Amino acid sequence: MSFQTPKARFQVAARMQQINPFRVMTVLERAKALEAQGRSIVHLEVGEPDFVTAAPILEAGREALANGHTAYTPAAGLPQLRARIAQHYLETQGIQIAPERIFVTPGASGALSLVAQLLVNPGDGVLMSDPGYPCNRNYVRLAGGEAQLVPVTAASQFQITPALLEQYATKASRGVWLATPSNPTGTVLTQEQLGAITQYCDRHDLHVLVDEIYHGLDYSNGLVSALAVSDDAIVINSFSKYFGMTGWRLGWLVVPEELVPACNILAQNLFIAASTPAQYAALRAFDADTRVILEERRQQFALRRDYLSAALKELGFSIDTPTLGAFYIYAGIEKFSDDCEVFCKLLLEEFGVAVTPGTDFGDYENKRFVRFAFTTGMEQLELAVDRLKIAVASGKLCR
Ligand SMILES: Cc1ncc(COP(=O)(O)O)c(C=O)c1O
Repeated sequence: MSFQTPKARFQVAARMQQINPFRVMTVLERAKALEAQGRSIVHLEVGEPDFVTAAPILEAGREALANGHTAYTPAAGLPQLRARIAQHYLETQGIQIAPERIFVTPGASGALSLVAQLLVNPGDGVLMSDPGYPCNRNYVRLAGGEAQLVPVTAASQFQITPALLEQYATKASRGVWLATPSNPTGTVLTQEQLGAITQYCDRHDLHVLVDEIYHGLDYSNGLVSALAVSDDAIVINSFSKYFGMTGWRLGWLVVPEELVPACNILAQNLFIAASTPAQYAALRAFDADTRVILEERRQQFALRRDYLSAALKELGFSIDTPTLGAFYIYAGIEKFSDDCEVFCKLLLEEFGVAVTPGTDFGDYENKRFVRFAFTTGMEQLELAVDRLKIAVASGKLCR
């Protein structure tokens, strides 16, 4: 990426040369511009639930404001929220986590950038899957580290394995960052797989960070947290996805005990604290009445997944791994095109369907894939499928 400016004082820092744009946002901007011109667009690009935050959480947020909860909280978060998150691990995973190990952050994004600053020295390598969540590479690079991309395929459900670590780790490697369920592939890591990776990392003294932001949104038999497997795992989660609170900007981080003091100092400096009204609102996210709403939404996501993956397969997209979690389908477009960016542009401009090109998620075979997010209702999904049928029949996609 190059940022040219004739004024030396506005010359952006050299580190910015390595930071890629988040292409999905570019797709979204273009889709919005087309809508502003009167075009109808189906949005399958956005990784954000289409549901408004559940009513009990909204009510708790309003109450927090009415009660004047507008001052900073401690850097690590409201003590009662940290305790509630700890209880959540007990209820859902049967594991005891000391609330002191839990930090409430401005989204999972805040937690990821905090960990990068906490653990990555200039020159350190962090292993991560390619494809994977695009921002992770940039957090590591901003800390002066090297994102060591590990090409993953359907053969390992697009997840990192100990054998791949053996192949790609170098002397510079300091850690491994994983996500289960994964964005963009919707694949998951089982307890055994997490165990094998953490054991490998123990043997090679690598830290393990597991992004569990899509926990709760799974369509298999429940997911095991890395915290159930290792006390040394660093775990990221968020209120954005399962809890449907993207715009409230609230996430959390669980760190091993020995990292607590340094993490606290860094949290104080990086963001002082997460949003206070959002933290009060989130206290209601775990209550039974809210959980009923969230469970119903999860079931709707499951229905959408079933419908869209069957329809895409019938249209000729290749889907080698079923979506077991999150709300994404990572689909091969080899039958139509060898360039996902050209494909996505055509699909948006001529047929009114916005999807994200695989080039957003890494370098390996990235042109062969696109990501469909089923973050819109059934009617819109049916409209998208109708438009895709027309697009395929037109032969225009095959360029
Ligand atoms: C895997 C993953 N991690 C982290 C994030 C950041 O989420 P937030 O900052 O909204 O919690 C996202 C958002 O899409 C994601 O997909």
